[in-house]
Amino acid sequence: MRGRNVISIADLTASELERVLATALALKDAGRRPLLSGQTLALVFEKPSLRTRVSFEVAMRHLGGDCIYLSPPEVGLGDRETPADVARVLSRYVDCIAARTFTTETVQQLAEHSSVPVINALSDSEHPCQALADLLTIREKKGALSGVTLAYIGDGNNVANSLTLAGGLTGMHIRIASPEGYEVAPAVLERATAFAAESGGSITQLRNAEEAATDADVVYTDVWASMGQEAEAGVRREDFAGYTVDASLMRRARPDAIFMHDLPAHRGEEVTADVIDGPQSAAFDQAENRLHAQKALLAHILSEEDVE
Ligand code: CP
Ligand code: NVA
Repeated sequence: MRGRNVISIADLTASELERVLATALALKDAGRRPLLSGQTLALVFEKPSLRTRVSFEVAMRHLGGDCIYLSPPEVGLGDRETPADVARVLSRYVDCIAARTFTTETVQQLAEHSSVPVINALSDSEHPCQALADLLTIREKKGALSGVTLAYIGDGNNVANSLTLAGGLTGMHIRIASPEGYEVAPAVLERATAFAAESGGSITQLRNAEEAATDADVVYTDVWASMGQEAEAGVRREDFAGYTVDASLMRRARPDAIFMHDLPAHRGEEVTADVIDGPQSAAFDQAENRLHAQKALLAHILSEEDVE
């Protein structure tokens, strides 16, 4: 995995995903190891962030390295300077770039023109680092990934895309329930279904949230309007009526089911407060796992030592 760009979660094979998760669990126990001593990560962000920024910064510090955060106005990606030039210049200073961009094309351009690895820290089509933390959380809470049934309720967005691909790669049964016009893109469904055929998992796009949640091990949701879609928030609130994860939907799932959310959450929209703040919620363990999963990913991509 050394030197690898991670734009999509599917840039890792099923066995590479397993190795990253094993390292994440080991690092979670072992704490800090100077695997990236002297190395620097640049964070280039076009959108706001709490979890992704802080977990990458802390991850680099725990691994003995350093991190530089560049905020949207500082970089002016595609405005002050082209993504290609930003990548060419940053590659002369740092060992890795993690970029949060509006379009996936921008992060792809960075990767194309960078001589150091580029990690997608969320784009419009994927959120691979979130998916790694999600898999780690499910592995911890359910003891396995293969055979676990996850119901994703809501928008077929970046988080849903990466989760669907990751579930397909790891033998999970992924059911997605979305209103008309908000389904996971057919190309993602097709690719994830091909992975599932290899792994023994399955991918199903449904309309009905109750059907998706019935007997699920995990119920997952995300915001109805993602960053950059704020102007559509009102329309989306109407379109997503009936897709709130509430106590009655959770009762359809298995009694030991967990609730997951990548955060930030809008209580009263995609999830009710009693669910996200209740005993079945894994949302804050999931947020913590961003740190452990990214430490493992960075170690596999950047470390000159054997991390396993
Ligand atoms: N889940 C997540 O990526 O959160 P941030 O947008 O705060 O980084
Ligand atoms: N789908 C959300 C995820 C935030 C972490 C967004 O893109 O805003």
